[in-house]
Amino acid sequence: MIIAVDGPAASGKGTIARALAAHYGLPCLDTGLLYRAVGVQVLRAGGDPENEADALAACDFPGTLLADRELRTEMAGAAASRVSAIPAVREALVARQRAFAAQPGGAVLDGRDIGTVIVPHASAKLYVQASPAVRARRRHDELARAGHEVDVGQIEADIRARDLRDSTRATAPLKPADDAALLDTSDLDIDAAVDRAISLVEAQLGIGRKASS
Ligand code: C5P
Repeated sequence: MIIAVDGPAASGKGTIARALAAHYGLPCLDTGLLYRAVGVQVLRAGGDPENEADALAACDFPGTLLADRELRTEMAGAAASRVSAIPAVREALVARQRAFAAQPGGAVLDGRDIGTVIVPHASAKLYVQASPAVRARRRHDELARAGHEVDVGQIEADIRARDLRDSTRATAPLKPADDAALLDTSDLDIDAAVDRAISLVEAQLGIGRKASS
């Protein structure tokens, strides 16, 4: 069983993907980390994240980079959003994502184009969203817990800029797959969002409990 979870930054898709993976006993891949690794690698090499040659060279990043805490910073997210708009970079990362999805038993993958491009044949697809203000507040609280004090208005502006870049790029733009179930987490806490996600997945699989609207 392959579950695709897509959505914008700080929508809750990562938390939901990990919870679904735990619930169904599946491995989980946060595909945003791959783009973040490319972005950080470009910056460390002194390159430009919007330059195709610089970004392509960085696709060959060492596996250990995926565990680097710097990948979690807003700077890495912004660099990821830039390199990810380059079609050749997306192409360079496709095989790795499809191989992960194809492992025996299946997998959960979260990102922006999982249900539309990476595994359009996924058994279940969710598109997780939340309002920019709610997402900015969540990201702010997350950063505050990690000891970083950042202005929430600035975070919301960054989130809106990243949404715009991700949803208007020519290749694999951020958008729900036609057959994805939409899940708005703006007014849901984590437990309620995960519960709803499981119901939506099971409704798509045609098993278990029914999704309530
Ligand atoms: O999900 P996360 O915020 O870590 O993703 C960072 C950036 O990587 C996104 O803003 C997006 O531009 C890019 N990305 C993508 N396709 C994916 C996952 C992430 O373009 N499947």
